[in-house]
Amino acid sequence: MNKLAIFASGAGSNALNLIEYFKGHQSVAIDAVYCNRQDAPVIGKARAAGVKVVLFSKKDFQSEAFIRELKERGTNWIILAGFLWLVPLLMVKTWRGRIINIHPALLPDFGGKGMFGHHVHESVIKSGRSRSGITIHLVDDHYDHGETLFQATCPVMKDDTSETLASRIHLLEHKWFPVVIERYIERGSVDFSQADVDASL
Ligand code: GRF
Repeated sequence: MNKLAIFASGAGSNALNLIEYFKGHQSVAIDAVYCNRQDAPVIGKARAAGVKVVLFSKKDFQSEAFIRELKERGTNWIILAGFLWLVPLLMVKTWRGRIINIHPALLPDFGGKGMFGHHVHESVIKSGRSRSGITIHLVDDHYDHGETLFQATCPVMKDDTSETLASRIHLLEHKWFPVVIERYIERGSVDFSQADVDASL
């Protein structure tokens, strides 16, 4: 069984979507949701769905004990779903190639430190680009930097606000994040054709 730990800091719509998608899955199980903010809505959502929640501080996150605990639980994949802290190097080394993040824009543009949530969408709108999208990528020790596994795009409308663009992006995220994770875990590559991706928009 592939055991996934989901790391999330906020609303948790992606975390919940993953929990629902992998419920009863034959080879993938969500082991727990790890959260760094005591007041994050994701906590209640995960608990209501029957998933264990682990709250942690920055000090915990950087400790070897934290990594040991994850290993002892048999965690073999780490999924960042709206998680705002940089992953410590030791963690990257321990799960190299097995930490996956979703970013709400088309990297390498609109990524890096401080580029999260509405900041991303505001920058995209300000840039005048006619398309945005999602990037699902492996994680290394830089923000939004590891190998890209998958991208899908959507239009940016003339009258978009960061909220309207965020909801369009969320639809893409909910559609693709679970299937991309599943495909990568099962086959070691994400081989959806561009036609599949375009047809789903
Ligand atoms: C998503 O847009 C994700 O791409 C970004 O943070 C947002 C989290 O949304 N990294 P939610 O908490 O899953 O609703």
